[in-house]
Amino acid sequence: MIVIATIRDVAKLAGVSVSTVSRYLNKSGYVNVETERSIKAAIEKLDYAPNQVARGLAGKKTNTIALILPDISNLFFSDLARAVEDVAATYGYTVILGNSDDRADKEKRYIETLKKKYIDGFIFASQTFGPEEAEMLTKLGIPFVCLDRAPSEENASVVRTKNIEGASMAVQHLLDIGCRKIAHIYGPQHLITGRDRLIGYEKSVHAMEWFTPSLLEEGDFRIRGGISATERLMQRHPDIDGIFAGNDLMAIGALKALSRMGIKAGEEVAICGYDGIQTAEITSPELTTIAQPLYEMGALISRLLIKKIEGTLEKDLTYELDVKLLARGSTLDFSPRAKA
Ligand code: RIB
Repeated sequence: MIVIATIRDVAKLAGVSVSTVSRYLNKSGYVNVETERSIKAAIEKLDYAPNQVARGLAGKKTNTIALILPDISNLFFSDLARAVEDVAATYGYTVILGNSDDRADKEKRYIETLKKKYIDGFIFASQTFGPEEAEMLTKLGIPFVCLDRAPSEENASVVRTKNIEGASMAVQHLLDIGCRKIAHIYGPQHLITGRDRLIGYEKSVHAMEWFTPSLLEEGDFRIRGGISATERLMQRHPDIDGIFAGNDLMAIGALKALSRMGIKAGEEVAICGYDGIQTAEITSPELTTIAQPLYEMGALISRLLIKKIEGTLEKDLTYELDVKLLARGSTLDFSPRAKA
């Protein structure tokens, strides 16, 4: 349970009046050195941050928003961050970026640290952001919105894409080009995006006579996870002729694994990813993917947060954006006859 310290708690611990603490905070009158030292120590000990009203009174709006993402080294998030920053700048806002590694303790640390810097609002792409953090920010009066992986709509607007529909689109494309045994490398199941894409795959294949649950392998949304999952799948089912990977990095791992096994990725085994990161255009063969509207997602979430900060957002809503198939060589080169 996170307890938010108030100015009264600070005054009590420092052994002074609330007005003395207020004078110190707003630098609106004399405070002797000894008293200043006691107040500073109390603020540190209680991890106190002036609340939104005090901040407003002190004119502390800083036109700064914090973007907390799982891992900026994943190009999905770096493309997203770029869109957020570009749009925020058009409204005169600066963006501070933080990597949470999907860890609640890191997210809480960011909230604790950044609240003292008078951040005007937070954008979280997180699965671990939940009621406790939402309560903390609401108590502090700091607006927040959730992107991509929001666990639930805790009084926040949410922007993500139609993950279930996107996964079905990937499977349908593999069927359309002639694949007859399609595996799925799924993302971490504690993430709604990993879960929903698995649901979309299973909805599309569960009635197929060739389907068996052993065509499923868990990945970690990273390249190495895609490599090892593909190796296990091909070991189990050498006759796989199509793989849908839950994100582009794992699909790139699948291309690598097939190449190491001397299998012609694209021709003998078709590969489809999910995200639409720029790297997918330069692999060999170029990667077919279900592209998320990265710039649109980043732009929308920025606008929603800034409206919330400026008090003009009528209602918190969940926005699920359309995705689209980008067909490239990793499926278009597929030739069922090419398989030895
Ligand atoms: O590539 C990272 C994945 O995590 C993306 O598919 C994105 O949707 C996020 O959930």
